[in-house]
Amino acid sequence: MSSGSASAFWHPFADMSVVAGHDLVIASGSGARVTDEEGREYLDATAALWYCNVGHGRAEIGDAVRRQMGEIAAYSNFGDLATRPTLELADRLAAMAPMPDAKVFFTSGGSDAVDTAVKLVRRYWDLVGQPERTVIITRERSYHGMHMAGTALAGIPANRAGYGPLDSGVVNVPWDDPAALAEAIDRIGADRVAAFFCEPVIGAGGVYPPPAGYLDAVREVCRERGVLFVADEVITGYGRTGRMFASEGLEPDLVLTAKGLTSGYLPMGAVLVAGSVARPFWESPGALWRHGYTYSGHASAAAAAMANLDIIEREGLVAQVRALELSLTAALVPLRQHTWVSETRSGVGLLGAVTLEPAVLSADATAMPRLIAALRDRGVLTRALADGSVQVSPPFVITRDELQALGAAIDGALTDVGSTRNVTTSSAGDPLLPEVTSDEAGGFGSSDDRLLADVPPHHGA
Ligand SMILES: Cc1ncc(COP(=O)(O)O)c(C=O)c1O
Repeated sequence: MSSGSASAFWHPFADMSVVAGHDLVIASGSGARVTDEEGREYLDATAALWYCNVGHGRAEIGDAVRRQMGEIAAYSNFGDLATRPTLELADRLAAMAPMPDAKVFFTSGGSDAVDTAVKLVRRYWDLVGQPERTVIITRERSYHGMHMAGTALAGIPANRAGYGPLDSGVVNVPWDDPAALAEAIDRIGADRVAAFFCEPVIGAGGVYPPPAGYLDAVREVCRERGVLFVADEVITGYGRTGRMFASEGLEPDLVLTAKGLTSGYLPMGAVLVAGSVARPFWESPGALWRHGYTYSGHASAAAAAMANLDIIEREGLVAQVRALELSLTAALVPLRQHTWVSETRSGVGLLGAVTLEPAVLSADATAMPRLIAALRDRGVLTRALADGSVQVSPPFVITRDELQALGAAIDGALTDVGSTRNVTTSSAGDPLLPEVTSDEAGGFGSSDDRLLADVPPHHGA
């Protein structure tokens, strides 16, 4: 950690009164590990910001980008202009998309994708003669990015505070209740509702997998009422849940993606749009959509995405995520024995969280920062999520041993900062390795063969 004269760099999501002059400078990375400028190595428990799915140091992505930059780094894609990797990537994503006849609108990242989607769904209803359909419904705890439209959509109140009036056509519903969504649409009037924006697994709000049957039920509620179903898969897209898309089988109207599209090697997002929604834009002469970003379809970013998808497919990384799901749960469940831990959540691929007891967090504002610092001391990089949880979302290339070491490090760090462990040993006699049944682990193979319910909450031992 560098300490001393502060750089002018204004860190995102940071208390600069604390952070200025104390940057932790990450200098290199390989696989699931990164190294700081002073040579200290860390396990990357978060894949940076949920994005470095194929792991760090993939020279082949750099090679693909270099080749593209040798031809042309980027060119405008506005109007009839295009670059070749952009066209190829669009066709590849359309073929992978979990909806028929998809079209692809590129963005610079996830927040752009959310704002593009808000404009797209409202413009769609305008084009098909129902301009009064403008209301957007979102789930409590959802994130939806940092642009102005996404900020209004957020189900994390702290992210909305302090900006004056935001888009008033947004309604939040409980994150876990399809009936509440149906009631909200019926109360507002379906003829006024444009879309339901759904993070299939709540991400930055705390990693909350959907209750069993939730996704099918909300999809049906939307279908019955003619409301567009928008899956915000900025975190879950491209394999993180052990499926290429968490909304597979739901036939979403839009899928919003970024992060794992390039594994962060270059910034890029993509909105996958069902043919039925794209059609009025594509087939109405004069319906020029005045929307797009300077870097929509950036050629070098598209080359990075193609190389990233090649790696995911060639190395079978989506299946690998599925195979590691139980090991992640096995690493986290024992942490419930800690007095400071209220619950752990996992069971949807490589997504997990360890939530601290609200009483601990409210009694001691330093509890979470101290825990994150203790983890760093133990060689693990992670961060706190909005609900008082520790984020666990490692690169897909993490090994079983590394997952076990991650669980042990969190266990040790909790002890370092004052939590105690009520040890109830498993039959194997090792409190860190209890037997985890596939039921408890959640995941696939549930009754509706979809992302299954959370591991049940458990308070202490
Ligand atoms: C579900 C979701 N949507 C949108 C975004 C915004 O993406 P970006 O930070 O790339 O703008 C994020 C970022 O974490 C996200 O988790």
